Amino acid sequence: MQKKKFTKHLLEWFAESHRPLPWKDTKDAYLIWLSEIILQQTRVEQGLPYFERFRERYPSVHDLADAPEDEVMRMWEGLGYYSRARNLHFTAKHIAYDLDGKFPDTHAGIRALKGVGDYTAAAIASFAYDLPHAVVDGNVYRVLSRYFGEETPIDTTQGKKLFAALADELLDKKNPATYNQAIMDFGATHCMPKKPLCASCLMKNNCVAFAENTVHLLPIKSKKMKKITRYFHYLVLNEGGKVWLRKRGPGDIWQNLYDFPIIEKEKTLTLSELEKTNEWLTFFPKKKYHTKKISRPFSQTLTHRKIIAVFVEIDLDEDFDGEKYGFVQVARADFDRYAFPRILNDYLKDDVLELF
Ligand code: ADE
Repeated sequence: MQKKKFTKHLLEWFAESHRPLPWKDTKDAYLIWLSEIILQQTRVEQGLPYFERFRERYPSVHDLADAPEDEVMRMWEGLGYYSRARNLHFTAKHIAYDLDGKFPDTHAGIRALKGVGDYTAAAIASFAYDLPHAVVDGNVYRVLSRYFGEETPIDTTQGKKLFAALADELLDKKNPATYNQAIMDFGATHCMPKKPLCASCLMKNNCVAFAENTVHLLPIKSKKMKKITRYFHYLVLNEGGKVWLRKRGPGDIWQNLYDFPIIEKEKTLTLSELEKTNEWLTFFPKKKYHTKKISRPFSQTLTHRKIIAVFVEIDLDEDFDGEKYGFVQVARADFDRYAFPRILNDYLKDDVLELF
């Protein structure tokens, strides 16, 4: 009974309050997939301009498949989670070349695509093909745990199973696309993590958490993640207005993005401490350089990591063999052709670089 009411009220709320979003008016699975990949862990307001730019530049899966990898990475710059951009490009090529440009039209076929998890598969299957699969994400955990007063931690196997089963039961099987979009929008714009709009909520009389005053405590997580901090010392090596960059390799954060030569330590060092490290002495055996300055610390928070970086600006007085390390020398004016992690852009924007 309470379950039937939930779905009914949710759809009533949606009919009144839904946001007009550009991917809602299409049944084109490619565009829906594109929007969902962009929206994975990105807020709608932030993702929207990216979606518009991608759609304009790559109107079909073939356009995206044929784009150079570096261009796709640059288009993605600022969204973070760069493995998503690589998977996006990989999957576009797979669909264009291996599947003859035909987007899979079954839930299993969609779920098998690289970069597509349970949530995204359910979203695409329902939005593009009206298949009855319920989405379960952070919004859904929050809405359902509050409405049903469900205290099982969401980051346990038991919790995941319980919420997936509940979501499937609640799904309006005749209108899966509308139902899924409704619960996403309701979680994002009404039943928010902080300051949810309970006073004006048409579900409040049936909401267990509202009755028990536990809205702010739900959903429950069994463990809070502890972030590890990494300390980077970037060497901004200037030779007549050209700077050495390196492309980051596999096995670490920011794969395929560009940054500067780096010395990583257990904490942030002073310049004189840095100059005594083995890495520094290996880079500059002849000590022919002129350190101009060291920046303030910049920070960037990733899912499992916090990065603290300082930037040491150095004029090289003699040839530095950057090629030996696989570095590339790039004029400052050409930096906009390269995709950088956000922390580098923050530093460059701060206008501290005195290279000319
Ligand atoms: N987040 C992920 N997918 C979404 C969608 N289709 N609409 C709104 N927010 C979303």
